[in-house]
Amino acid sequence: MIKYIIILGLGFSLYLMSFKNNSVKLTGEESVQSLLEELGAPRSANYPDLNMVGVSAEIGEFIIKTGVSQKLNGGKTLRQSKHFVCTSCHNIEQESAYLNVVDPQETLEYTNEKGLPFLQGSALHGIVNRTSFYNDDYEKKYGDLVFKARNNIREAIQLCAVECSQGRSLKDWEVESILAYLWTIDLTLDNLVFEPMEIDVLEEALNEGKDKEKAISILKSKYLETSPAHFVDPPANRKMGIDSIVANPDNGKMIYENSCFHCHKNNDYSFYRLDDETLSFRQLKRQMGRYDVRSVYQVVRYGTSPLAGKKAYMPHYPIEKMSIQQMEDLRSYIYQQAE
Ligand code: HEC
Ligand code: HEC
Repeated sequence: MIKYIIILGLGFSLYLMSFKNNSVKLTGEESVQSLLEELGAPRSANYPDLNMVGVSAEIGEFIIKTGVSQKLNGGKTLRQSKHFVCTSCHNIEQESAYLNVVDPQETLEYTNEKGLPFLQGSALHGIVNRTSFYNDDYEKKYGDLVFKARNNIREAIQLCAVECSQGRSLKDWEVESILAYLWTIDLTLDNLVFEPMEIDVLEEALNEGKDKEKAISILKSKYLETSPAHFVDPPANRKMGIDSIVANPDNGKMIYENSCFHCHKNNDYSFYRLDDETLSFRQLKRQMGRYDVRSVYQVVRYGTSPLAGKKAYMPHYPIEKMSIQQMEDLRSYIYQQAE
């Protein structure tokens, strides 16, 4: 009898142990979207069609980084754009420690620390976790084109290939390949900042099915599903700048080097060359006060105009990508270096 009780007892503890082992312990590497779907959130519309012939994440990565796509038979296709690659204007890495707030200064410092440029386009890292694109004022720039792209990542990629990159439109298999690659840089738990308690809620929801709605809303509160974009005008008096702002030239230097140099230092993406010479700063200072395309105020806030397929152009910085303070910091650096 006792023998049986011991065996039963042993069996039961083994059963409990196996239960414990099956339970999820989050490691941080989990895909945020997979967790959401496991908890009952709707399936993302951004998954690629992997059954389409020729689709692969490698091809997608190649297009994003080099602008050319490699066909299955080894042949290369026509470059997507003569002027740009996607990474001219978008980082493919995380750009900010807190993905649930928009703070261009935090982004500047974070990207600087990681050795990344400070750019006009949103990071493509985590872009598949978004549900709307070209938000708010982008309608002013692209008009009706935005409507198709607003809630459709495929159209958003296509819009950018043609309008932002000034290139040819992408074939369906290229768009799906880009999506396949973008899912290799989607958000993982490690990219988000949680309280230990919140992780407990997530684990309980996954293991015991408890409070799934709460778990979903915790996850969703840690990043933005849309990136706000508002356009601002330069100060009315471009010669004076904004008096009331105490500008920080050191911060301006960081912007000059991490933003402007990304495209202008070695003529990488522009014919217009910027460097560290006093003469160049004098010229920038002189032009800054003008009301034309050579003014730094003008190009930062309005960009230069894209002429379809004809020419490289400079995308502008909405206020979420460069604050008014940062703009004045850049001005003060240019003025300081021009002395
Ligand atoms: C010349 C600069 C430039 C190039 C090149 C470029 N983009 Fe963009 N892209 C932008 C800007 C500016 C936006 C505006 C919205 C944003 O990113 O916040 C944008 C928006 C997007 C969006 C929507 C993001 C959002 O949250 O609104 C996607 C997706 C995108 N681009 C993908 C691509 C891909 C893929 C390529 C390469 C084929 C590419 N882009 C090339 C500048 C560029
Ligand atoms: C994503 C790439 C990119 C970034 C980042 C960028 N530019 Fe540009 N910029 C361009 C392109 C492209 C042009 C169009 C002229 C050309 O084709 O060379 C241009 C044009 C300009 C012009 C007008 C030149 C002229 O004579 O017409 C100025 C001035 C300028 N940029 C300054 C800046 C400054 C200052 C910064 C940093 C805040 C900056 N740019 C960041 C790509 C960029």
